[in-house]
Amino acid sequence: MAALRAVVQAGSGRALLSTPRIVHTSRANMSFSSLSRSKQVAAATVAVVSAGGAGLALMLQQSVRASDLELHPPQYPWSHAGPLSSLDHASVRRGYQVYKQVCSACHSMEYLAFRNLVGVSHTEAEVKALAEEIEVVDGPDESGEMFTRPGKLSDYFPKPYSNPEAARAANNGALPPDLSYIVNARHGGEDYVFSLLTGYCEPPAGVEVREGLYYNPYFPGQAIGMAPPIYNEILEYDDGTPATMSQVAKDVCTFLRWAAEPEHDQRKRMGLKLLLGTALITPLLYYMKRHRWSVLKSRKIAYRPK
Ligand code: HEC
Repeated sequence: MAALRAVVQAGSGRALLSTPRIVHTSRANMSFSSLSRSKQVAAATVAVVSAGGAGLALMLQQSVRASDLELHPPQYPWSHAGPLSSLDHASVRRGYQVYKQVCSACHSMEYLAFRNLVGVSHTEAEVKALAEEIEVVDGPDESGEMFTRPGKLSDYFPKPYSNPEAARAANNGALPPDLSYIVNARHGGEDYVFSLLTGYCEPPAGVEVREGLYYNPYFPGQAIGMAPPIYNEILEYDDGTPATMSQVAKDVCTFLRWAAEPEHDQRKRMGLKLLLGTALITPLLYYMKRHRWSVLKSRKIAYRPK
């Protein structure tokens, strides 16, 4: 050990880096022809069998998919689709109006309370007025009786049916799903819901749709229990926007996106802050790393035999 002495020379690392080094290694011979005859046959068999198996698996997987018959929704240019774009809150407000006047006849939104609308689509006074339009069963009072009172901000949206059985009975056996999280619960999100709402058409020749069902190419199975819920001028918007079918569908989908993801705008704002913070801190950290490591990176270790 004593024969070797490590000499550390600070600042002369550059010289070491620039000395040309030629590394000789024995070349690995991996070619197919260098294998013995029997190994060649074995390798070829393995290759053919595994390629064939993969091809077969792919074909089977594709051939048994019934979803091939379904029309996939296109991607629509939602104004909130960009990584930094917020929801269109005027559209959320119109969408609530559509839900209230059209969809709420059949669909519940049991995870939304009136207070959730405050500051999103309506002012507090407006939401209070909206809530007071409904009657809520409350109680019991001091004599043990249930009573009804006007709704409050803390009440949840009223349900159209008291239980799923009643909902099915009123809809030919089909259950209208709760819409609170529907855009997260379906593949394609709001693109799917928009396509579904606007996609009703005549069944193609040879396709029979059972009594009480409607043909919709976007719905899995193509026969849906929901009658076409919207059409041009189905309602009159409070803000005067022309209520065309696609406008109504777009607004209700924006509203449903907000309902399923109330943190949407906050999430994107946090993302923006994170990006800005990272952009600031990365060069700083890089500078500090160079600073801290400069002692180690620029030293030279040499061994001098005695
Ligand atoms: C007359 C009652 C009725 C109205 C009004 C109505 N729906 Fe429906 N909806 C249904 C029924 C019933 C189903 C279940 C259909 C099925 O499973 O075949 C359904 C299903 C749905 C589905 C789920 C489709 C799927 O992929 O499972 C969505 C989304 C939907 N409705 C959205 C809406 C929207 C948005 C509105 C308002 C513009 C609306 N509905 C108005 C009765 C209604």
